[in-house]
Amino acid sequence: MSWIEQRPDDAMDGAFDAVGPIPVKTCEPAAFRDAMSRLGAAVHVVTTGGPAGMTGFTASAVCSVSDQPPTLLVCLNRRSQSAPILQRNGLICVNTLGAGDAHVADTFAGRTGAFSQERFKSGDWITMPSGMPVLATAVVAFECRVIEIRPVASHNVIFTAVEAVRLGPEGPALVYHGRAYKRV
Ligand SMILES: Cc1cc2nc3c(=O)[nH]c(=O)nc-3n(C[C@H](O)[C@H](O)[C@H](O)COP(=O)(O)O)c2cc1C
Repeated sequence: MSWIEQRPDDAMDGAFDAVGPIPVKTCEPAAFRDAMSRLGAAVHVVTTGGPAGMTGFTASAVCSVSDQPPTLLVCLNRRSQSAPILQRNGLICVNTLGAGDAHVADTFAGRTGAFSQERFKSGDWITMPSGMPVLATAVVAFECRVIEIRPVASHNVIFTAVEAVRLGPEGPALVYHGRAYKRV
């Protein structure tokens, strides 16, 4: 087995990036992306609906923070058109995709050219009384209230309180691994 070690080159000037309260030295972003492609991750479509509008984006950077109280975090690139809409609505739904919904993941990742509300033509969507779009075929959907948004590097880390969970049909889930969709 061969291991490729990627460390910042101490001799390299200007390799500092602001990723936290103090500048720290990092490995190359491309090496980091290659490394992350080795990790399998569940695929979610994070949606929002309300007075600011309805939109959604595909995300793998979703993580449980605590079960007391139930808390999830989602990382969203600040350049995403969803960022200001989500912030103003203050409510999101994290829809965890089943194996048959790779086309929904592609649509909400912007790969089909569809934008904001247009993206909901892909998949079987139900609008909850809160205005939140929920994917009927999601293996699970978390209805969440945004409690804190922290900018870190290029992304916003969005902390949410989980107000309700909806268990969808049982069956294989969609996972992103090796830059490809796989079923688990
Ligand atoms: C499998 C997969 C996972 C992704 N995970 C994230 C993520 O966690 N956070 C993020 O900001 N973008 C993620 N993206 C990219 C966004 O889905 C995409 O850039 C975004 O929808 C496009 O921005 P827009 O909504 O402004 O069009 C992911 C894309 C794919 C295909």
